[in-house]
Amino acid sequence: MCGIVGYIGNKTACPILIAGLTNLEYRGYDSAGISTIEKNVLSVLKDKGRVNNLKNLSEFNSLKGSVGIAHTRWATHGKPSSVNSHPHLDNSKTFSVVHNGIIENYNELKNFLTNKGFTFYSETDTEVIPNLISYYYQEFPNKNKDVSVFLSAVQKACKELIGSYAIEVISKDFPDYIIVAKKNSPLVIGKGVKENYIASDIPAILEYTKNFYFLEENEFAVISRNNVEFFDSSLNKISKDLKEISWDSNATDKNGFEDYMLKEIYEQPDSIRNTINSRLNENGEYDFSDLKLSKQYLKNINKIYILACGTAMHAGLAVKNTIEKLCNIITQVEVASEFRYRNPLVDSNTLCIFVSQSGETADTLAALNLSKEAGAKTIAITNVVGSSITRLADYSVFTHAGPEIAVASTKAYTCQVTLLNMLAIHLAETLGNCDRELINTLKLNVLSLPNKVQECLNSDDFIKDFASRIYTEKDVFFLGRGIDYTTALEASLKLKEISYIHSEAYPAGELKHGPIALIENGTTVVSIITDKTLTPKSISNTQEVITRGAKTLIITNEHLSNSNFDTIINIPEVHSFVSPILAIIPLQLLAYRISKNKNLDVDKPRNLAKSVTVE
Ligand code: M6R
Repeated sequence: MCGIVGYIGNKTACPILIAGLTNLEYRGYDSAGISTIEKNVLSVLKDKGRVNNLKNLSEFNSLKGSVGIAHTRWATHGKPSSVNSHPHLDNSKTFSVVHNGIIENYNELKNFLTNKGFTFYSETDTEVIPNLISYYYQEFPNKNKDVSVFLSAVQKACKELIGSYAIEVISKDFPDYIIVAKKNSPLVIGKGVKENYIASDIPAILEYTKNFYFLEENEFAVISRNNVEFFDSSLNKISKDLKEISWDSNATDKNGFEDYMLKEIYEQPDSIRNTINSRLNENGEYDFSDLKLSKQYLKNINKIYILACGTAMHAGLAVKNTIEKLCNIITQVEVASEFRYRNPLVDSNTLCIFVSQSGETADTLAALNLSKEAGAKTIAITNVVGSSITRLADYSVFTHAGPEIAVASTKAYTCQVTLLNMLAIHLAETLGNCDRELINTLKLNVLSLPNKVQECLNSDDFIKDFASRIYTEKDVFFLGRGIDYTTALEASLKLKEISYIHSEAYPAGELKHGPIALIENGTTVVSIITDKTLTPKSISNTQEVITRGAKTLIITNEHLSNSNFDTIINIPEVHSFVSPILAIIPLQLLAYRISKNKNLDVDKPRNLAKSVTVE
């Protein structure tokens, strides 16, 4: 999705903006642009293609000044092109704007402004914003250099916008200010010494500051070199606390790995360890006391919803059975984009858990709003402190995966499954009616995860070999029963995302109800077998595809001796409730190695964005 960076200080803005945009490349984009001001002269440089391309444009060196805004665009309205790239100027070239989000009523606004004599040059929704600001700015008889006039014009323009936006605005008439506003799209302000930074997400500016302000919905900030002033939607002044972010700025380096995805796969022992430790007290007991979910409350709840998108939703699926078994509470896992539009049965006796790496996913955020309105208690499980979902939910529980840069989520997923298992155990202990022996086994299993994940990483060489044999294939099937089916879903998504190979995940027992018709000589089938109670069934299902000519990769914690299998990857034994955390590791590696064999851009797969902040 689009990315935003801004700088105001005493250094030359351009290199800082370029560095910030480069840090945001992982979000996915197709065009980039920068606008700076020096001595009341507004300059704009933009083009389709990579951030680095900007440096080759002849006007690059004329981008002077210590105030600037910048943008990476992920096209929604209008194809990637120089004219559609941000920043966009108003007709009088007084205001320059970058925008993340979608203005849903831009056609109406365009008609309104066209009737007032404005001309539009791009196909974007964004171009209405600088022109609306300009329109309202003209209304002020005395626009003599009071920044409140600039702010009022921005506020009046924002009042007209339907949809989502995070915007940065600079003006040649106010060369010492940047004004920002947000609604349903993230924006953070990083505080420095005599300088301030702006970004759509923290990693973009983490190398400059760890102190952040988070803008809430419909708020504005007027940012100068020495000051940041905040205003509500009616322009009443408000105050905000500065939050310190603990992420290490080195965490956004590749650290010698070829790609971020590979680095993040290999970081999993540490990220899982950090996530576990974040919820252990000094006696080694689970500590979720901040959630304040009493036994009485839990006894009365009618169901638990886990709402999320993509990989985060798969994390929810991986713990559904665990929660139901341990707590005896119906647990439904749903794609947030469906939940939000289907009048779900949610009330004050429903506990809704929202899982999101970024904490900014638009559909998950909408599902959260809906659940709150219906009176449910809400818990956010996210990786990003200060993100929109954490600010809205009643309680937040953080994964400690560190920044995840690769579009394909890996370490966030295993941390989410770990944390959700710990939460399930905590709920069961609070309810007090659980099988003590099972709880103790699970707790020991959780503690063993970092070392066992490390062992799973040893499968890389076998996986490399298998990947080199199947990377030209058109279809791959992933099979699993019970909890292994949830791993199959996640493995299939990983493969699709970064290798562009069509893949299907099926509950193994469902295959003969239709999809087995697709299995022919040489088809690759990956079978995940980690639940002892289902092993014989899973083996039979795998045998059925072998009989029809499939070659099979088996991921298992059992000692299988069937010589018909093409490759067996053995993973360490754990209780099946936490086995997805181990079983997914070789399959993340499989997707990665296939993508490398195909010479694809692993970290930035086509059409995808890291943080999906629009519907
Ligand atoms: O930031 P979130 O966890 O809310 O993102 C949800 C999905 O967009 C995300 O998991 C997506 O499916 C990943 N690209 C999967 O690798």
